[in-house]
Amino acid sequence: MLGRVLAACALAALALAATPAEWQQRSIYQLVTDRFATSDGSSPSCDTEDRVYCGGTWQGIINELDYIQYMGFDAVWISPIVANLEGSTGDGYSYHGYWTVDQNALNDHFGTADDLNNLASALHSRGMYLMVDVVVNHMAANTLPPDYSTFTPFDAESYFHTFCWVTDYSNQTNVEQCWLGDDSVPLADCNTENDDVIDFFYSWIGQLQSNYSVDGFRIDTVKHIRKDFWPDFQNAAGVYAVGEVFDGDVNYVAPYTEVLDGILDYPTYYQLTYAFESTSGSIQNLVNVIQSAQSAYENKLFTVGTFLENQDNPRFQSITTDQGLVKNAMAWPFIADGIPILYYGQEQGYTGANDPYNREALWLSGYEEDKPLVQHVRILNAARKAAIAASSSYLSTAVTFPSVGGNTLAVSKYPMLALLTNVGASGTPAWDVSSGTGYASGTELIDVLTCTTYTAGSGGSVSVTGSEGAPVILLPTSVFNTTYCSELVGTNSSSSDTVAVTFEIAYDTTYGVTVDLPPSTTIEYKYITKVNGDVTWEDDPNNEITTPPSGSVTQNDSWH
Ligand SMILES: *[C@@H]1O[C@H](CO)[C@@H](O)[C@H](O)[C@H]1NC(C)=O
Ligand SMILES: *[C@@H]1O[C@H](CO)[C@@H](O)[C@H](O)[C@H]1NC(C)=O
Ligand SMILES: *[C@@H]1O[C@H](CO)[C@@H](O)[C@H](O)[C@H]1NC(C)=O
Ligand SMILES: *[C@@H]1O[C@H](CO)[C@@H](O)[C@H](O)[C@H]1NC(C)=O
Ligand SMILES: *[C@@H]1O[C@H](CO)[C@@H](O)[C@H](O)[C@H]1NC(C)=O
Repeated sequence: MLGRVLAACALAALALAATPAEWQQRSIYQLVTDRFATSDGSSPSCDTEDRVYCGGTWQGIINELDYIQYMGFDAVWISPIVANLEGSTGDGYSYHGYWTVDQNALNDHFGTADDLNNLASALHSRGMYLMVDVVVNHMAANTLPPDYSTFTPFDAESYFHTFCWVTDYSNQTNVEQCWLGDDSVPLADCNTENDDVIDFFYSWIGQLQSNYSVDGFRIDTVKHIRKDFWPDFQNAAGVYAVGEVFDGDVNYVAPYTEVLDGILDYPTYYQLTYAFESTSGSIQNLVNVIQSAQSAYENKLFTVGTFLENQDNPRFQSITTDQGLVKNAMAWPFIADGIPILYYGQEQGYTGANDPYNREALWLSGYEEDKPLVQHVRILNAARKAAIAASSSYLSTAVTFPSVGGNTLAVSKYPMLALLTNVGASGTPAWDVSSGTGYASGTELIDVLTCTTYTAGSGGSVSVTGSEGAPVILLPTSVFNTTYCSELVGTNSSSSDTVAVTFEIAYDTTYGVTVDLPPSTTIEYKYITKVNGDVTWEDDPNNEITTPPSGSVTQNDSWH
């Protein structure tokens, strides 16, 4: 038997709840728990293609909160926490957490209830929020029909829609009442028209919130449940929730903004990707989708989640590794109207394409902070925070586009002016914005990414010539903490640093041949330029390595 919701429980949760307005001020780091960090800091191998549990845990996340906070994030979205299908299936293991079998138990691959509570406490003590991913559309099986007795609490066929595959995305009944998944892992579609199922979920989401001090929810597969299921679910959660409506059409997505606090903004995601994936992407189409969403969404784009990557789509750098294009596309969520979400690994330059390749283990990166894109994200977060602090209306000011060119775009959200471009790293972008920036004539502006300063001309006009296809993000110098400029890791510095690099020399020999093995040779390398983290190395000509006349040389690049 399924219990009835106790109104008192839901109300108690509301008292401490994190509201959409509180979430708007934050930026979110999304991670896949199994792939982010291990409890003991070890770095087990993790081949994404194997689709197995690699060893990440909630304790591991606690261990690496400094890394997340260093970049300026103040919320963490973790992958689903409840017990999943065990063992191997034709689609791999359930390391991602989206294959629920028991809604009331935790997935013990990731730790215990204490570990999860410790994660919530550790986040809260840093002033950070915990966002938990939940799935209510379906339960996962490894046979068809499922063995319903393996499910908690929906242990009978009557709790599910009659089996049929989702086959017709133009038929909303088919989308809502048929099943996702495949023959290997059929996803039994919960009958969210059934009163017992409805009552369970409304009670459950409030319990989950209070049991683990959750500050916000990300909800999976929202478009696969009737819209009028959601308002009471949102109320019962008592905290901000952002729903996945996996569709690029503003008109399809907009009605969901009326039933949940926020949606993951797929229409922007697609146009953002298309605009910056090549030097011929359409900037105008990005502008058009934003303007449509500003008028169609319930609360404009202020409470949507804005993202460039996630666990379901190819990483941006699997499409292009042009660092000019990458830096522009990455900047968007931080200069736009929604709540920025960054998918773990993007900051380390990960290039995995579609699932499962986009779920790389982050420990393999060493969580290095001295990297161009880590620094990029850190400054973007700092700039957004500075704009929020400088203007009480920043978060309710909708972006405008005072200048739209073929390869350039000016995005105004006073006091920020973001100058974007898709000319690419080999291009020299220029922006001439004659009005619409909100700046008074004579205001000193700073590009937070390079700390170069400019002065606004008459009518607030701004003329900037950039370099290497990078974006330029302007704020009045008076509102930006320029300590960041001197702290920029890898900003211009003298060529005095020297690093020793040791090469090991390996020989391929034939049986019976004698070789004299030379001792390891050490040569010194030093850098000549170090601009915003991009280091160009030169070797010391007085200490050249001599390649043996035969055999192979293996570089031991111990400076990485
Ligand atoms: C829509 O899908 C439902 C469920 O699969 C089906 O019963 C119905 O016939 C479909 N309607 C149309 C117009 O195809
Ligand atoms: C919340 O905790 C209570 C008490 O331990 C437990 O009965 C309930 O199943 C938990 N609910 C969830 C969704 O974890
Ligand atoms: C500016 O930033 C630095 C380093 O991030 C910090 O230590 C300092 O407190 C900040 N100053 C202000 C006024 O916020
Ligand atoms: C850094 O060096 C580059 C190239 O030498 C130069 O164009 C740029 O102005 C310098 N930036 C700063 C902040 O000094
Ligand atoms: C590279 O060389 C250093 C110094 O000889 C050694 O300590 C290190 O283990 C070597 N690394 C690899 C990967 O061989």
